[in-house]
Amino acid sequence: MLDMSPANMALVLVVLNKNRPRTELALMLSRVYRVEALIDFDDAWLAMDREVPAIVLTDLETADVYGANHIVHKHKHEKLCNVPFVIMGNEPAGNCTPQFEANGDFYLQRPVSSSDLLNCLNTNMNRAIEKRWENLPPLQSTALRETVQQFQAISRAIETGEPLDMAENRKSCESLLETVTSKQYRSILDNIQGHHNYTYVHSVRVATFLSVFGDAIGIKGDDLMTLTTGGLLHDVGKMATPPDILNKNGKLNEQEWGVMINHVTHSKTVLKRTPEITRGITIIAQQHHEKLDGSGYPLGLKGAQLNDLARMSTIVDIFGALTDERSYKPAMEPERAFEILEEMGAKLDQPLVRVFRDILSS
Ligand SMILES: [Fe+2]
Ligand SMILES: [Fe+2]
Repeated sequence: MLDMSPANMALVLVVLNKNRPRTELALMLSRVYRVEALIDFDDAWLAMDREVPAIVLTDLETADVYGANHIVHKHKHEKLCNVPFVIMGNEPAGNCTPQFEANGDFYLQRPVSSSDLLNCLNTNMNRAIEKRWENLPPLQSTALRETVQQFQAISRAIETGEPLDMAENRKSCESLLETVTSKQYRSILDNIQGHHNYTYVHSVRVATFLSVFGDAIGIKGDDLMTLTTGGLLHDVGKMATPPDILNKNGKLNEQEWGVMINHVTHSKTVLKRTPEITRGITIIAQQHHEKLDGSGYPLGLKGAQLNDLARMSTIVDIFGALTDERSYKPAMEPERAFEILEEMGAKLDQPLVRVFRDILSS
């Protein structure tokens, strides 16, 4: 059975010498991350000795950048030198940005809005994670680098209303598929957890599981590529879903749920702009929330209206979501996820659930 035990949630160290901003920022960030708030770098280095944080948030004054300059201290530590620091300050960004960016850190000029700060922390934590992928064997490293670049390109295409670049998309899917057909995909699943672009992580995991499923039951060539591409693109519409709904810890209210399920319609709009999108890819994107008993969405299709492609993608999408690590929950153990799939009874194609379970257990 795959080892997908929960990794720790990202730890953000907030090191600020002023009480009120420290408390307010720690409270705001604790909705999304595990946060430790400290008054100075004497305490911060002790904390970093206990556990290496994903990122450090500080300011020019607390880090004493023009005096003792505590930030240079991290470069003396093998474990800490790749931890990005985000440094806030009142000085113009033009004066400060170059010196910090040269060391892999980031400067934010005050005033800083909550959304800018969250974006900045996510982007810098992701950069640090993506840098670690460079140490993986070339096959896995290439697949991760190409798929993350592909998601950045998809995000730009959605913003500008342009079609997706399917030649580039095919390249990244071929790399991912190669890790599957050569049975070297497990480190993709391990190393991608922890990246903070949830839709990217979920999509690569669904693409990998769908490819593993297809490869094991004898699907080949263009049909196998359809599974990989469909998995990678199945939730593109979620890139237009507001992050506070996408990352909400708890049940969505009726209005939020309406916005959430609309991602299927958004996906349809995005994919329709791209002529090379095949019928198989469309089925995966449009039908992965449909259920055999008609209780799914958006159309409430049932039974024979759902072919194997739709049935497989529904199973894999639910399994992927349960075993994804999120900011508010650890990854569920695969055994428990399969119990839930079985408890769903007639909603899913249970013989296919058993086949998928046997494949991942072998
Ligand atoms: Fe979805
Ligand atoms: Fe999904």
